[in-house]
Amino acid sequence: MTSSRPKIDFDAKIPNNVDLASDRKLQRALERWQPNFLDWWGDMGPAVDTKDVYLRTAVDVGREGWAHFDHVPMNEYRWGVFLSEHDPDRKIAFGEHKGEPVWQEVPGEYRADLQRLIVIQGDTEPASVEQQRFLGATAPSLYDMRNLFQVNVEEGRHLWAMVYLLHAYFGRAGREEADQLLARNSGSDDSPRILGAFNEETPDWLSFYMFTYFTDRDGKYQLGTLKESGFDPLSRTCEFMLKEEAHHMFVGTTGIDRVVTRTAQLMNEHDSEDVAGAGGIPLDMIQKYINFHYTVSLDLFGNESSTNAANYFTAGLKGRWQEERRKDDHVLTDDAGAVDAVRDGQITTTEVPALLALNQDLRSEYIGDCSNGLKRWNRILEKHGIDARLSLPHVGFNRQVGAFAGQRISPEGKMISEDEWQRNEGRWLPTEVDKTHVRGLMHPVLEPGKIASWIAPPTNGINDKPVDFEYVHFN
Ligand SMILES: [Fe+2]
Ligand SMILES: [Fe+2]
Repeated sequence: MTSSRPKIDFDAKIPNNVDLASDRKLQRALERWQPNFLDWWGDMGPAVDTKDVYLRTAVDVGREGWAHFDHVPMNEYRWGVFLSEHDPDRKIAFGEHKGEPVWQEVPGEYRADLQRLIVIQGDTEPASVEQQRFLGATAPSLYDMRNLFQVNVEEGRHLWAMVYLLHAYFGRAGREEADQLLARNSGSDDSPRILGAFNEETPDWLSFYMFTYFTDRDGKYQLGTLKESGFDPLSRTCEFMLKEEAHHMFVGTTGIDRVVTRTAQLMNEHDSEDVAGAGGIPLDMIQKYINFHYTVSLDLFGNESSTNAANYFTAGLKGRWQEERRKDDHVLTDDAGAVDAVRDGQITTTEVPALLALNQDLRSEYIGDCSNGLKRWNRILEKHGIDARLSLPHVGFNRQVGAFAGQRISPEGKMISEDEWQRNEGRWLPTEVDKTHVRGLMHPVLEPGKIASWIAPPTNGINDKPVDFEYVHFN
């Protein structure tokens, strides 16, 4: 297999490895979009004023040494367009075009569907930056503040990735959609973001870690399916985005590790589960935050049974998670699958053609991945000699989308009455009291190496730097 690695052009106004300089029209269109992006970043990006932040910037798309770390003033940060390496032999791995060479241009018959998929993905990227806008003001350490900026600049770059595709391959309609990606805003009454979870607020750092653990992980799975796409530029874009995305989930995983660790320490120190008075976050509150963020993220996978998902797969636009490792014919027209259903007041499953069950297939992969975090956090509790355990609630709990929408199901997976739900909701999902407590703990800690009361310090710094490194400088 041969592959070529296009060099990144750093001298360009828009750093890129797509040879933007050779397409003047496209270059001009993107350069016209750039100031609108920068205005959006100014209005909607991190609200903290910094001198510079120790950030990772992509310098190569190969497997080795793709990133460079340095202190960067935010007004000098440059977002670029990077696609992973081009494989000239790549073939479509699934659906009715299986075995055909991948497309370098958009096939006319799939134009509308592909544009829609790109717009929906693109809409989530700036949404999370908007949701996280005010977190910098209450960062529990400089290390955490740096990670917030890192996640935010990369989500901004992911928006660039999708906008590049819209401009380069979808003509006037694509340019209009690119403008709309900056016009919609998270939580806005008149023009909200497309998906529900991206209109929720991220008002505190516990929510931020939960978001990066559960909701960025949904992103990982969506990008994983688009990486399989027969439309090669989309595939290569998503492959590179996945590389950056891994860090976002690391922030979530280790963030919750550190909260659980601190809670366990306080429980032992005070010989009590109620660590709220001692400046900690009680375990049952952590559980409620897990319940909330996990379930709104499950909704992002859509209906269990979906003809859209079937059509995208058959057309070769969107594959399954790790499509090429699956041991079947990758066409699925003769296979059956089971999807969740509620019938006669019972939680059950229905058999449907496998093609219709692809959303549930992806959601199952996601759930398996999520459960790894729970194992980690329970190991931390065990290590501290604490008997209580954290868990993922039943897949039907607190759902707004799909087979369980409108049903009342307990975290254990029992169908319950509205009355029972009302009586217990406050034990299962964060209440105003919980949210007020968590928000009350959020005070900025800006001294290098120091950490807030409610969270343990990280075990390692970033890029082999010490934990007390000055990750952020202020004016
Ligand atoms: Fe992203
Ligand atoms: Fe992300």
